Amino acid sequence: MKVVSTEFIKSATKPEQYPEGLLPEIAFAGRSNVGKSSLINAITQRKTLARTSSKPGCTQLINFFTVNNQFSFVDLPGYGYAKVPETVKRTWGPMIEMYLKNRASLKDVILILDVRRDPSEQDMALMDWLRYYQINPIVVLTKIDKVSRNQAKLRQRQIKEMLGLSSEAILFSARTGEGKDAVWGCIMENLV
Ligand code: GTP
Ligand code: MG
Repeated sequence: MKVVSTEFIKSATKPEQYPEGLLPEIAFAGRSNVGKSSLINAITQRKTLARTSSKPGCTQLINFFTVNNQFSFVDLPGYGYAKVPETVKRTWGPMIEMYLKNRASLKDVILILDVRRDPSEQDMALMDWLRYYQINPIVVLTKIDKVSRNQAKLRQRQIKEMLGLSSEAILFSARTGEGKDAVWGCIMENLV
């Protein structure tokens, strides 16, 4: 996929604030600090389109971007970070569920997991929500540069089983760029 233009549109917390859903949309979800924003930047080849941080809880709003004026990407706030203020934690669930429920232009969700960690309770809860809304997520296992090839393959099998996936999760690294083409392949399949 050749990315010729990207544009940050706006941040939102509730449906009234979402931009008009004129373009097909892909959302990126996962626990805090897993690498959602880094994945968006890696596949669009932009260093700072989505804000990244080594401090968890960086993205606390729903951020909308357009790519090539053809489709739209959404960086969802990460969950599961203990130090996020209580008020933010309480609004996270409803904020994400509202988005999943109300966004007619949403074509698919990319669920991002750290290849080294088992899916958390919240990852599982999100899987259940997605299934409930009949969204079959693209699962991406990121930070594979931190483990050996064999370990990555093993984790891929284990996580597939734990989540009950019908297809393989994608092995990805924002650091090396591995898996970018596979992620794009899945995104494009869902945009048509
Ligand atoms: P929140 O916005 O807080 O939910 O986090 P996020 O999921 O957007 O994570 P972000 O992209 O900000 O990345 C968190 C940290 O992980 C940063 O220090 C990144 O540099 C690092 N990181 C992200 N992807 C990778 C990867 O593939 N490999 C390695 N080694 N580090 C990564
Ligand atoms: Mg982020």
